[in-house]
Amino acid sequence: MKVFNHINSLRAWLKNKKRLGKTIGFVPTMGALHCAHGSLIQRSQKRCDITVVSIFVNPLQFGPQEDFNEYPRMMNADLQFLKKEKVDIVFTPSYAEMYPNGFSTLIHISGPIVHGLCAPFRPNHFNGVATVVLKLLHIVHPTHLFLGQKDAQQVAVIKKILQDLNWNTQVVVCPTLREADGLALSSRNKRLSASSRKFASKLFESLYCGKKCAQSGEKNVLTVLNLIRDKIRQEPRIHIQYLEVVHKDTLQPLQKIQPQKTMIAIAATIDNVRLIDNIIV
Ligand code: PAF
Repeated sequence: MKVFNHINSLRAWLKNKKRLGKTIGFVPTMGALHCAHGSLIQRSQKRCDITVVSIFVNPLQFGPQEDFNEYPRMMNADLQFLKKEKVDIVFTPSYAEMYPNGFSTLIHISGPIVHGLCAPFRPNHFNGVATVVLKLLHIVHPTHLFLGQKDAQQVAVIKKILQDLNWNTQVVVCPTLREADGLALSSRNKRLSASSRKFASKLFESLYCGKKCAQSGEKNVLTVLNLIRDKIRQEPRIHIQYLEVVHKDTLQPLQKIQPQKTMIAIAATIDNVRLIDNIIV
């Protein structure tokens, strides 16, 4: 496994491989790696000749009141994890490498894709994600980009940017990995206290209940949402930020459940830790 901290040396190494016609799979991360990252990496390894993983906690995607400082950082453990996964290349740039003095470009994403879900609660978040991902794509030039379905709006935003800017990297969306009790794997789970962790699975349990209700023929979005909300309210330490029923690709709110096309998405805080999850119906 080769570790690069600098853009130029990574580019030079990759240039040689590309000359040989190798396919490059890219898994961008903010570290604190877990099995869900592992599954993105394994998919990339199956599909591509070379797998590149980046670790960079991107300050541009955190709001002033958000958890940039508390975001788990564990570089040594992450590198061990990646070594075990037999990753070819790890890119671990510093802040100054990514955003040198005078850096003044921000990609601005607009339109219906950022009208709902996380966007209104995290102003500028997706602009920060768009900026760093586009920058990383310019550095790595992967043939394939591997992203997790848990971050459904991030996936939609990145797909839209690639489409709008005629970028021909193929996006591969991988299913959400879950703990045995259903909690979606996330680096932020590390911030849950033992007591909060016990009921964090309520999020998935409730979404699953909503899915079952919709699958049994219920078309009324409000009925499904109320069922989920009532279940979650049984646990007063969970605060719902949003709970929405949207089209799984366009992310536009749906008036009626449409089988195969419907996504129920939630964001909630549990003792100040913000978690997101979604389920396709
Ligand atoms: O999903 C993440 O971990 C981040 O948003 C990403 C895509 C690595 C950009 O910083």
